[in-house]
Amino acid sequence: MAKVDITEKVVSLSKRRGFVFQSSEIYGGLNGCYDYGPLGVELLKNVKEAWWKDMTFRENIEGLDASILMHPRVWEASGHVENFTDPMVDCKECKCRFRADILEEIDCGSKAYKGRKAIKCQQEGKFTEARNFNLMFKSHIGPMEDSTNVVYLRPETAQGIYVNFLNVKESSRQKLPFGIAQIGKAFRNEINTKNFLFRTREFEQMEMQFFIRPEEDAKWFEYWKEQRINWFVKYGIKREKLNIHEHEKLAHYAKSAVDIEYEFPFGFGEIEGIHNRTDFDLKRHTEYSGKRLEYFDDQTKEKFTPYVIETSAGASRSFMAFLINAYDEEEVTKENSDGSKSTEMRTILHLHPALAPIKVAVFPLVNRDGMQDIAHNITEDLRNNFKVFYDDSGAVGRRYRRQDECGTPFCVTVDSETLENSTVTIRERDSMVQERISKDKITEYIHEKLRI
Ligand code: GAP
Repeated sequence: MAKVDITEKVVSLSKRRGFVFQSSEIYGGLNGCYDYGPLGVELLKNVKEAWWKDMTFRENIEGLDASILMHPRVWEASGHVENFTDPMVDCKECKCRFRADILEEIDCGSKAYKGRKAIKCQQEGKFTEARNFNLMFKSHIGPMEDSTNVVYLRPETAQGIYVNFLNVKESSRQKLPFGIAQIGKAFRNEINTKNFLFRTREFEQMEMQFFIRPEEDAKWFEYWKEQRINWFVKYGIKREKLNIHEHEKLAHYAKSAVDIEYEFPFGFGEIEGIHNRTDFDLKRHTEYSGKRLEYFDDQTKEKFTPYVIETSAGASRSFMAFLINAYDEEEVTKENSDGSKSTEMRTILHLHPALAPIKVAVFPLVNRDGMQDIAHNITEDLRNNFKVFYDDSGAVGRRYRRQDECGTPFCVTVDSETLENSTVTIRERDSMVQERISKDKITEYIHEKLRI
C-alpha cells in the first residue's frame, strides 16, 4: 500500500466509522479544528487514561487540572508573549500566508501550481520578508476589549503546573523528586495547519513536570526519555517506527531537548517532547509574581529552585499515531454458504485492546430460537465493565468485518450450542481464532486480555 494512501484511508475510515469529523462540517468546516465522533471520543479517552494511569499511579506524581484561562502575567513570565512566535511570509502572487521555517512541507496556495512546494515560490522571489507572528489566541475578560483585561487561551498546559507548584507541594506533602501531571486543551493560532490531526489550532496535551535537584538533571532526563518511549511501545507502537530526535536549536527555556518522533506516512513527526527546562519557569514566576517558588530540603537544610524535566505529549497527535500504526488491510479466506472457500480483503485496526473504543461485540448467530435474548442478556452483563456493541444485522462474517474496522478486539457469538450448554464462541480480532468458553466467563476472559 502506498504510504500517502494510508493517511487518506485513515481519514476516510475516521469519518465512515465515526472516529473524527471536520469541525462545523455543515458550514464548510473550520480549518485546523476537528470533532471526535462516537468511536474517536472513546479512543481519545483511552489514550488519555493509559497515560494518566502510567503517570499518576506512582508514589511521586500528583494530578492537576488547571483552568485554561490564566492571569495574563503568566504568559509574560513564561516568555510566550515575547517569544512564542513563528516566522510568517505572504505570497505576493496568490496572497496565501505561510510559516517560513517549514516551506519544504507546505504546498503553494495557487490553484495554477497544484502540488508545488511553497519553497519553490520563495526561491522565485514571490514572498515578502518574514515577520514574527505570535501564536497565542487573545481574548478579553468582561465586556471591555482593552489592554487591561487581555487573556490568552493557553498554548501549553505546563504553565498551570508551575503556578501551582507550591499548592501541590504543600497539599500533597511531596518531597523532591516529584512530578505534577495534567491533561488538557491547548490552543495555537498555527499559520499553516496540516496533515489531519497532526497540526491543529485546538488540541490536547498530556504533560508532566518532574521537579528535581539541579545536579540530577541528566539522570532524570534519561530516565523520562526511556519511560516515555516504553509507554508508546507498550500500547502497540512499533519500536522501529519511533525515532529520537535531539534538538540542536533549543527553545528559550530549555537546556536539552529531544523529540520522540513517529514515522507517519508523510515522514517522521514529533509526538512528544522531553525537555530539561532547568529552573527557568519557576524562577521567572518567582520574579513576576513575587512569590518564591522554591524548595526547602529538610535534610540538607538547603533552599533552592528545583529544576524541571518535562514530558510533553500531544494527546491528539498520539491518537493519530495510534490510529495510523493500527491500520491494516489483509487478504483473508472466507467460507461460503455452500462450503466452498474464497478470499476477500479485510480492513482492520490492530489497536491495543486497552485503547480500542469498543472492547467486545455480541452477536446472535441467527435471529431465532431465543438467541437474541441470550445475546442481549450477555450484552447487558458485559456493560457493567466494558463498552459493548450488540449487532444482529446481516451475515455474521459482515458483522466481524465491521468490528475489525473499528478495532474491536473480541466478538462473542451466541449459537445453537449456547442453547445446549451455555457456551459461546469468542473470536480474537487479529488472529481470527475462535475459542469456546462458558458465557459466565466472558468478563473474566476480557479482563485478563486487557491487563497490561
Ligand atoms: N510544554 C511544552 C510544549 O508545549 P511542544 O513541543 O510545543 O512543547 C508538545 O508541544 C506536544 O504537543 C507536541 O509533541 C505535539 O504532540 C503537541 N502539539 C504541539 N502543537 C500541536 C498542534 N498544533 N497540533 C497538535 N498537537 C500539537
